[in-house]
Amino acid sequence: MMFSLWYSQFLLLLLAYSGSLLSAELLVADGSRSLQDKNIFILAGQSNMAGRGGVVNDVWDGVIPAECEPNQSIIRFNSHRKWVEAQEPLHVDIDFNKTCGVGPGMAFANTLLQMDSSNIGVIGLVPCAVGGTNISEWSQRAPLYNLFIRRSKKSLLEGGRIRAVLWYQGESDTIHQKDAESYGHNLKKFISNVRQDLHLPMLPFIQVALASGEGPFVGIVRKAQLEIDLPNVWTIDADGFPVGPDGLHLTTEAQVRLGQMLAEAFFTRTVQQRRPISSHASKRNR
Ligand SMILES: *[C@@H]1O[C@H](CO)[C@@H](O)[C@H](O)[C@H]1NC(C)=O
Ligand SMILES: *[C@@H]1O[C@H](CO)[C@@H](O)[C@H](O)[C@H]1NC(C)=O
Ligand SMILES: *[C@@H]1O[C@H](CO)[C@@H](O)[C@H](O)[C@H]1NC(C)=O
Repeated sequence: MMFSLWYSQFLLLLLAYSGSLLSAELLVADGSRSLQDKNIFILAGQSNMAGRGGVVNDVWDGVIPAECEPNQSIIRFNSHRKWVEAQEPLHVDIDFNKTCGVGPGMAFANTLLQMDSSNIGVIGLVPCAVGGTNISEWSQRAPLYNLFIRRSKKSLLEGGRIRAVLWYQGESDTIHQKDAESYGHNLKKFISNVRQDLHLPMLPFIQVALASGEGPFVGIVRKAQLEIDLPNVWTIDADGFPVGPDGLHLTTEAQVRLGQMLAEAFFTRTVQQRRPISSHASKRNR
């Protein structure tokens, strides 16, 4: 009698405890197999990758379009190197000195899920972008580069595969002509350093050709981006994409479109390789 009373209380306690564990670790309880097989995407670059959609005068409007809503199949590697449910703003604890808003990451992941919901499985996003950073801050052994490599490696510890790097950077290299002119060389070096340090020699890079810049030499940087000739480097051209009142940052709507184009580019070139490319997700001819 005493024993069974004690036992049932113990059971209740256990149930309550596992309940709280369950909500905290919902992702794991949900399907550990697909978690182990997760598709990891590294998000890097500067502010337009970190996301400033909906940010005006350092205030984010909080508007999250349907395309950017959370989904239990989309997780995010946070600054404490834990996988948590992904939600906007994806870079809030990474690009923490700035006000983050909507970037391309959630629209990218949701589009990929919709395109291939039965096969792709869990999508793991690893935000690494920091606003205002020039390409020399991403050179090998620079602090930001080291953090990028470290986070990428740690993201693999619980299983999964790094499927691609999404890269949107270069606005800060349009101020001085010298920086713009060496951009192509530095970008190639960045890509090969990453592939070498992650031991993934063919790791796909999907880069964004600039929509805007901080200085007058946008054309030179864009030319370098569009002309890059490395295997498994694909370019989305953001030329003409709407930017906010600062003239620099993509609007929320533009970020959604960009995320969709990044997903189309990845999907058509990898997942769907045998089917014809049906979209305009690659370089636009203009
Ligand atoms: C934030 O600002 C501090 C102080 O200026 C700087 O040391 C740090 O690198 C910055 N970090 C990021 C992620 O912007
Ligand atoms: C998550 O994404 C899948 C694939 O697009 C979709 O079927 C499902 O309804 C989404 N779940 C939520 C909660 O939005
Ligand atoms: C890049 O940015 C860093 C940090 O703001 C700065 O110290 C450096 O001079 C810049 N490099 C170039 C080539 O513009």
